[in-house]
Amino acid sequence: MSTFKAPKGTYDLTPPDSAKYLAVREALSAPLKNSGYGYIETPGFEDVALFSRGVGESTDIVSKEMYTLTTKGGSELALRPEGTASVLRAALEANLHKLGNLPVKLWYSGSYYRYERPQKGRYRHFSQVGAEAIGAEDPALDAELIILADQAYRTLGLQNFRILLNSLGDKECRPIYRDALQEFLRELDLDDDTRRRIDLNPLRVLDDKRPEVQKQLVGAPVLRDYLCDACKAYHEEVRDLLTAAGVVYEDDEKLVRGLDYYTRTTFEFVHDGLGSQSAVGGGGRYDGLSEMIGGPALPSVGWALGVDRTVLALEAEGIELELPSSTSVFAVPLGEEARRVLFAKVTELRRVGVAADFAFGGRGLKGAMKSANRSGARFTVVAGERDLAEGVVQLKDMESGEQQAVALDALVAEVRQKLA
Ligand code: HAM
Repeated sequence: MSTFKAPKGTYDLTPPDSAKYLAVREALSAPLKNSGYGYIETPGFEDVALFSRGVGESTDIVSKEMYTLTTKGGSELALRPEGTASVLRAALEANLHKLGNLPVKLWYSGSYYRYERPQKGRYRHFSQVGAEAIGAEDPALDAELIILADQAYRTLGLQNFRILLNSLGDKECRPIYRDALQEFLRELDLDDDTRRRIDLNPLRVLDDKRPEVQKQLVGAPVLRDYLCDACKAYHEEVRDLLTAAGVVYEDDEKLVRGLDYYTRTTFEFVHDGLGSQSAVGGGGRYDGLSEMIGGPALPSVGWALGVDRTVLALEAEGIELELPSSTSVFAVPLGEEARRVLFAKVTELRRVGVAADFAFGGRGLKGAMKSANRSGARFTVVAGERDLAEGVVQLKDMESGEQQAVALDALVAEVRQKLA
């Protein structure tokens, strides 16, 4: 222990568990790499206004949860609370929408920061893998993203998750619904905070989990009844494409999501083993966001999957990922001369691409063999003075326990052959 600890609401990834996180990131992004999405990386912080305009002043994310700072030069920055606004900003800045065919399909992976009340599955620093398809209004694109997320979770072995699907309408029909909802909500018996929300973000009131609020919401107008014909047809097409792909979803007309930029398709992946923080991923269409941040009209759709919560979901389902050992050969020298010889062999193995490690620190045979075991290496190479005098090393197969003398010169070839 040092004097310091990881800040509240954060945790470190350390071996061996950290390997699981890498494997999850890999699995979540693999379907994207395979479907025409190119990798994008943006800074960990942005101009505050990008998020207040993009994500929305009235959202919890912007009004309560952003880590903001003023730089010595006077710039107002925020640690990124999410990826969509940043990715769209970067795509516009690089003119990606003008360079090639639309949609521009991008994927990303990184750290995000929200000043939330920490609990299981809710952290102040967390990690997401995300995808954004920018510049096309095509229900097949919405369906593609949902199908790829479903595939990603399934390749990890997850089963107990559900896909919730909704349409939030567009700039034609949503305002009409919003008016009707506000009128309904104003008649209810609500606390001051919730009353304020009626003006700022009435759809969020529907998301209020308190029973005394939920009770009063029975009979509230539902967006589905207000969708314009274009939104209805679009949504039907998304649903049909998902069904044709064999992806099972649930219609959830209460699904609003915590970010203001959404239009039409919205969805969430919820896992039933996670308690209250059950959303392992979510996303939707954001046809107006580009214009909100000063760009041209670029209808787009995307999602972000939470890496931390996906790991928790794996644990909830008792799934152990098969993680190949990172070390194939572990070298244990006995004596000074052996140290130099085996160190050179380890270097040689690494140069030809064999994962190899070495007993550092000059400990005795027992300690070194413990390290070899812990490394998970398939083979251990041991050599002492007598071996070297005969020009051999002892190669031990840690799986079968068999040990054989191998000529020093033949070691690298022998190991490569055995591993192949
Ligand atoms: P979001 O729903 O805010 O959407 O976050 C996506 C996922 O990130 C959540 O489902 C959850 O798994 C994870 N997550 C969010 N907050 C936390 C937290 N405090 N601790 C742990 N995990 C968390 C977005 O961020 C949108 N940018 C998604 C999107 C992309 N929409 C369109 N394109």
